[in-house]
Amino acid sequence: MLRRVNFYSICIAFGLSVLLILAGSRYTDNTNYRPSESRRNIRNFLKPIEDVDESLLQPIPTNADDGTPDIDKIFDRTRLKIKHELWNYNFTQSGVQNLDGLLMESGGQPFRSLIISTWRSGTTFLGEVLNAMPGNFYHYEPFLNFGIVQIRGTPEADKALKTIKKMFHCNFDGMEDYFEYGKSHWHQFSHNTRLWDHCKYKKELCIDADFTSRFCKLFPFQSMKVVRVRLRLVKQLLEDKELNLKVILLIRDPRGVMQSRQHRNFCQPAPDCWKPELLCADMISDYVAAARLKQEYPHRFMALRYEELALNPNSTTYAMLKFLGLGITPSIDEFLHSHTNVEVAGVSSTFRVSRDVPFRWKNVLDFNYVDEIQMTCKEAMSLWGYRNAHNATHMTSKDYNPLDQYYLTQ
Ligand SMILES: *[C@@H]1O[C@H](CO)[C@@H](O)[C@H](O)[C@H]1NC(C)=O
Ligand SMILES: *[C@@H]1O[C@H](CO)[C@@H](O)[C@H](O)[C@H]1NC(C)=O
Ligand SMILES: *[C@@H]1O[C@H](CO)[C@@H](O)[C@H](O)[C@H]1NC(C)=O
Repeated sequence: MLRRVNFYSICIAFGLSVLLILAGSRYTDNTNYRPSESRRNIRNFLKPIEDVDESLLQPIPTNADDGTPDIDKIFDRTRLKIKHELWNYNFTQSGVQNLDGLLMESGGQPFRSLIISTWRSGTTFLGEVLNAMPGNFYHYEPFLNFGIVQIRGTPEADKALKTIKKMFHCNFDGMEDYFEYGKSHWHQFSHNTRLWDHCKYKKELCIDADFTSRFCKLFPFQSMKVVRVRLRLVKQLLEDKELNLKVILLIRDPRGVMQSRQHRNFCQPAPDCWKPELLCADMISDYVAAARLKQEYPHRFMALRYEELALNPNSTTYAMLKFLGLGITPSIDEFLHSHTNVEVAGVSSTFRVSRDVPFRWKNVLDFNYVDEIQMTCKEAMSLWGYRNAHNATHMTSKDYNPLDQYYLTQ
């Protein structure tokens, strides 16, 4: 008797392990997915309704050997995947009745959000939070090909604004410079994970304006981050009713920015990146523009300090998504959970937002340099609510809190 029970339980245990291995391999197969994403897939897979064959939801491998990818198949599967991932999404909170209301290809209007900031101010993290939204198309840094410069006015401003508008309308025609640059800098595309899922196998797709335009139109949420255009110019984009855009300005303590830039070889000698006086003049100009935009477009514009995001990633992200009119999805919660508690080495990792990161400069910068920045940036720091350190001891002491309140007023 005992033996038979043992035999059956072994059979059952064996059967279960085989099932688990099968189920596991189905997701781990798909190596381009990060762990958090495969967990999301499993969660979706376990949900009761919408009986969809999971294999249809995987990106189609298109490698150099198997010829031309079936573009229509890629589109069909992408549509299905987006629908599937958003099956439980409450579209009413985003002001439409259903997914079609947000799809350009169905005559709808997608949700568009633009992050304006500057180098080393926490945009990578913020950009990825938004990209954790299912059905998001991430227009990553359209002006990498401009080099390490700030766009503050004519003549580059016209071209830049035109490009932003075109991209948000999923029109990539005439963007040869952008695609040409991408050919030797694939990271221009790889942050756009949903595009990259396909074009990493077949790089021609990444630089194909027609494919990119059509693919882009399938996505209900469109986000973009830009570190080279100053806020003053963005007013034009908010005025454009057709764009229906929301804008977030991300600001960071200039001492933290400069400390972070010291570790980047792209910065020196470009003055726009290397000179605190230029950074802080931009911060003043951004403040003036922010105060005006906040008054004129209170529901379309928001300013955010990186330090607040890092200190309270959860509540700040919730507030930001609420402002954007986006609902919190399990994938957002998972992203926050996995990216804000763990610290992993590596400069391009975003696994770095934690309480100490924004204030690391206090312990690594020389006080003389900090004092120099503080003098140069006196006005910018006071407008954005950053307190001075008085001396080296004060700077490193626990009692010194660099963050003060700030008010956006004209
Ligand atoms: C969806 O969101 C709207 C607006 O926020 C709310 O009134 C409604 O109850 C929500 N529906 C569901 C099913 O949660
Ligand atoms: C995150 O913040 C929201 C809103 O403030 C709250 O409802 C939620 O419980 C928080 N989640 C965690 C994990 O703290
Ligand atoms: C450093 O600044 C603190 C705070 O202002 C002050 O109390 C302290 O006396 C200063 N120390 C030195 C050595 O100047």
